[in-house]
Amino acid sequence: MADDVTLAFKLYILMVLTINGTGYILLVRYTRSREGPMYYSTTTVMLTEISKLLISLMILIKEHRSIRGMISDVYMNVICKPSDSFKMCIPSVIYAIQNNLAFFALSNLDAATYQVTYQLKVLTTAMFMVLMIGKPISRTQWTALLILFTGIALVQLDSANVKQDSHYNYTYGLVAIILSCLCSGFAGVYFEKVLKGSDTSLWIRNVQMYLFGIISAFIGVVTKDGNNIMEHGFLYGYNFSIYCIIGMASIGGLYTSVVVKYTDNIIKGFSTAVSIVASVICSYFMFGSSFGQYFLVGAGLVMLAIYLYSLPKPAPKAAPVTQNV
Ligand code: C5P
Repeated sequence: MADDVTLAFKLYILMVLTINGTGYILLVRYTRSREGPMYYSTTTVMLTEISKLLISLMILIKEHRSIRGMISDVYMNVICKPSDSFKMCIPSVIYAIQNNLAFFALSNLDAATYQVTYQLKVLTTAMFMVLMIGKPISRTQWTALLILFTGIALVQLDSANVKQDSHYNYTYGLVAIILSCLCSGFAGVYFEKVLKGSDTSLWIRNVQMYLFGIISAFIGVVTKDGNNIMEHGFLYGYNFSIYCIIGMASIGGLYTSVVVKYTDNIIKGFSTAVSIVASVICSYFMFGSSFGQYFLVGAGLVMLAIYLYSLPKPAPKAAPVTQNV
């Protein structure tokens, strides 16, 4: 894939990421709340890591136009560089925790509350951008990020009905969301820092991360569900929807990595907000669904946030000039 990509391509990836992400949340919520044998979420996380690894290897085969080329690339850049590969162990563990937390949160919260509160990740991401890569963020830009969070939350609040239900444990769910937002911010910025700090290709970085991801997810499988799996089997409670969840989580993960390569984690937050607004407008024209009462305010806030964030930063104050008299 060429390093320069068109704006249309970026928009396409962001739209897929948003629509896929919304579908994923609704499907996980549906499968966690229905009657019948409950699948083990840890196995779903592990199968997703395996699927992302296989897809990344296939993309490398396509890039090298041969299986041999892929094997030698992986051998030279993953096996022969253990300390470089090991850098990806950290985000893989954090993402494994985050992906398991998503199932936990969606077992305790409705999809709308989950989607709205999870937008807090725009703030945790910005915080880690400052702490880990020293990105300067002005006061106006912080205000823009807060407005962005409020705007997406209002737009999404409309797209689904928040239902109070005694089956939910909101406190557990919200704690899980806050931890997820911290994991998302930290792992996203760490991945971006390592990816852009060397010439190693995106797909090799992904292979390194998913190899460790499979190990981390396997530890989760054994520690959380090991005994039950011994009794009922690894794929207990699986049906077509669970394979769809694995497919959607894989598409989401791989597209996320592409977005981070071509933009950055903060731009990802802004662009996701725009594609959320765009997808609500599209569904209005395509499926005749109506805008809710907060949609226009939310969409307006998203636009205001983009404008504020893109304002030029005030120039640093010049040092006083000492004059020789
Ligand atoms: O919500 P957030 O955007 O932080 O989610 C990122 C998702 O993308 C996680 O599920 C993570 O496992 C996945 N990911 C990936 N490959 C990357 C970076 C993130 O699969 N290189």
